[in-house]
Amino acid sequence: MSEAKNYKQALQHSIFNTITKAAANLELDCYVIGGFVRDYILQRGTAKDIDIVAVGSGIELAQEVSRLLPGNPKVQVFKTYGTAMLKTQEIEIEFVGARKESYSENSRNPIVENGTLEDDQNRRDFTINALALDLSEENFGDLLDPFSGIDDLKSKIIRTPLQPDITYSDDPLRMMRAIRFATQLNFKIEATSLEAITENKDRIKIITNERIVDELNKILLSETPSVGFKLLEKTGLLNYILPELIALKGIDEIEGQRHKDNFYHTLEVVDNISENTDDLWLRWAALLHDIGKAPTKKFSKKVGWTFHGHEFVGSKMVFKLFKRLKMPLNEKMKFVQKMVLMSSRPIVIATDVTDSAVRRLVFDAGDYIEELMTLCEADITTKNPKKFKKYHNNFKTVRQKMVEVEERDHIRNFQPPVTGEEIMKTFKIKPSREIGIIKEAIKEAILEGEIPNEHDAAYNFMLQKGKELGLIVDS
Ligand code: CTP
Repeated sequence: MSEAKNYKQALQHSIFNTITKAAANLELDCYVIGGFVRDYILQRGTAKDIDIVAVGSGIELAQEVSRLLPGNPKVQVFKTYGTAMLKTQEIEIEFVGARKESYSENSRNPIVENGTLEDDQNRRDFTINALALDLSEENFGDLLDPFSGIDDLKSKIIRTPLQPDITYSDDPLRMMRAIRFATQLNFKIEATSLEAITENKDRIKIITNERIVDELNKILLSETPSVGFKLLEKTGLLNYILPELIALKGIDEIEGQRHKDNFYHTLEVVDNISENTDDLWLRWAALLHDIGKAPTKKFSKKVGWTFHGHEFVGSKMVFKLFKRLKMPLNEKMKFVQKMVLMSSRPIVIATDVTDSAVRRLVFDAGDYIEELMTLCEADITTKNPKKFKKYHNNFKTVRQKMVEVEERDHIRNFQPPVTGEEIMKTFKIKPSREIGIIKEAIKEAILEGEIPNEHDAAYNFMLQKGKELGLIVDS
């Protein structure tokens, strides 16, 4: 047990005084516990989610707090869990009665009994999440830290209050949480804990995909996501969650020819992109940009290792992966697919930057050209400083050309300069295949740079194309 400390200063928000009063009215003890205390001590800013544990009924305490607050905010009660939630404009408070929990082999749902504060701290995931501050009038702000969580915060260690095997098999989501906290906070997972995660890895199967993805997203949104993915790989969890990434591991060698380890390359790309964007979906795109390389890998004597069509195969795999993990099959998924599909395009043109290639790139990437360039720049992981510089310079040229071409040709959000209506009117024809052919030919001519993206030039081109198709101008 650490020496007695007081953290009154963490409890300046007036809600804590209200909770203290409510607890006194009900003659019960209560404490603020978990992430709020941890994040205060780590100076991660004041959390908006507050967890209160009451030695008694958490639901009654929530109701009493609401009674004392102006406007009596609504209390949401979750009877099965014995918890209650109260939301004000700025904060969300969850109330729970102190409890003892034990879990059965095949279910996440525990058998719950009333318990003491210590029982409740015992059942928590990590020592750093079991820190509690007393909210009683007499000991307001006193720290209760039975597992030396403060020391673990200082030494940056993730440790379980009980034997790790018990903590993780009780609630296997905690294996993901351990890795997520290690990644977010840059902490080390204590050795016996890491062993227990490895041993219990297959218990992750009883956790819903939604909760797993929540943790994956938090890992991806960390400063250095590779920390988490390396731990997921080391413990064997990644096999269950994202086997597509495991398939990228390893280097094959035939006749002295090797390819790079696409798993570690991918992690480097994710770290690189995280320096330039907080967009979760762009980070997902970086994580998945090479998944098509495992099923398309081939060796030929002439050219060595190839991954032909891996971008297309990868973009199809994105759909299956999102579906399996119950991730949204919406615009976000389509965005990730598009990034994966186009992930090699800027690289290919960077060696020979022609106007028409840039116009096509801007046309195909549409609104996502910036994101695509960010992905491709992050994809440069060569350790050869000369090459590194050269590739980045090539991308600078591509970006410069993009600006020039865009100023001149307005390819982004391309609108056909001659409409189908105008084609029908000009040649006095009804909706037909010819209209599609002419429109496509105009678009191609613009992208190739044969004509500018302007009405008059496109109109003349249309007349010529119509003539070739045997159409007669209606005069
Ligand atoms: N907790 C736990 N086991 C879990 C989830 C949560 O023991 N599987 C406990 C921890 O004490 C945790 C508290 O419940 O601190 C609140 O959980 P939650 O709000 O999910 O996490 P926080 O610790 O607040 O952190 P974050 O908001 O970053 O998820």
